[in-house]
Amino acid sequence: MSQTLLKRLADTLAQEEKDGTYKHLKTIKGAIGSRIDLEGSGEVTLLSSNDYLGLANHPDVVRAAKEALDQYGASTASVRFICGTQDIHEKLETELAGFHATEAALTYSSCWAANTGLFPAVTSPGDVILSDELNHASLIDGIRATAKGVIKEVYRHSDLKDLEEKLVRHQSAPARLIVTDGVFSMEGDIARLDKIVDLAKHYDALVVLDDSHGLGVLGKTGRGVAEHFGVLSDIDIFTGTLGKALGAGTGGFVAGPKAITEMLIQKSRPHLFSNALPASVAAAGCQSLDLVGKHPERVQELKQKADWFRSHLKELGLNPLPGDSAVVPVIIGKTADAIRIAGEMLQAGIFVTGFGFPVVPEGEARLRFQVSWSHSQEQLEQAAATLVRCLK
Ligand SMILES: Cc1ncc(COP(=O)(O)O)c(C=O)c1O
Repeated sequence: MSQTLLKRLADTLAQEEKDGTYKHLKTIKGAIGSRIDLEGSGEVTLLSSNDYLGLANHPDVVRAAKEALDQYGASTASVRFICGTQDIHEKLETELAGFHATEAALTYSSCWAANTGLFPAVTSPGDVILSDELNHASLIDGIRATAKGVIKEVYRHSDLKDLEEKLVRHQSAPARLIVTDGVFSMEGDIARLDKIVDLAKHYDALVVLDDSHGLGVLGKTGRGVAEHFGVLSDIDIFTGTLGKALGAGTGGFVAGPKAITEMLIQKSRPHLFSNALPASVAAAGCQSLDLVGKHPERVQELKQKADWFRSHLKELGLNPLPGDSAVVPVIIGKTADAIRIAGEMLQAGIFVTGFGFPVVPEGEARLRFQVSWSHSQEQLEQAAATLVRCLK
């Protein structure tokens, strides 16, 4: 075997280790929660998970998954259109459509798959896609995968003037899509969706919203950033994940008009060429949606905790990025510093992740705290106090 490629990789990895930017996987023993048992560290407080509502290990969600395993088996061992669709998939899709007040929904094995499968399947040459510069990597890859001739432009982050200029320039295109994250996951800020919807109406564009970090977190009943701004019925296409606030483990979806979901069934490559969501995950997703519906107070309590944590960090003289979500980043600067401080936090019993280049721009490396409904006041206070100590 030629060693050239392997040698190159080994050299790159050695350099990353030397620079302090190497990502080491951390192993959790047992289930997720506000406290976890981490190999090599013991019990620590977790502020790095997307388990915003504490549903990932909720007994009802776990029970639903177990019962589905008994009823449906481990999998269909198939893609959806061949023989991979079970009635639990259809139930979940009906519920996701109901939750978002859309005509239909279609599930995928992940939101990554949904985002990469959506744009190539529904656009044609001449159509225009306008994408926020801080959109998630899966949206970027999905947009890049569209046909030659589909016009792809990036507008400056949440810059409505820039967006409007591009809408004006492309007014004669057959279709215009504005694509945005709901919550920008590295910044914790939210899309200016009310204004985006106004522009979309004025310039006859469709709004595609990936609210992976907003579902279950924002809005009175957890329907996300669109509900927060009161524009739920103005969003044309939602994408999202079952794997964050819903805690179902994995799985993603597109919710929108039936013409969209039907076209995805015909043409979307991750749907056509990749297996169905396991029934256990679909059942867990249904159960989580039911819990969100029955317990909107969890969403409100999470919001209060996240707001409190952000303002407490400020009281302690720190400078968290402003935002309305449960993602609270604190800028550190250099990538190696963010990773080192995260390591020191871990030694002090707080698990928070340091993000650096290329995930965020060089010089803007950060610690990203993710607040969950399951955190106690004491845990949040301790996390903030530990951060102050480590920064000193
Ligand atoms: C905004 C956004 N979209 C999509 C994804 C992908 O979600 P999934 O884990 O379901 O593939 C993520 C996950 O990090 C995300 O933050």
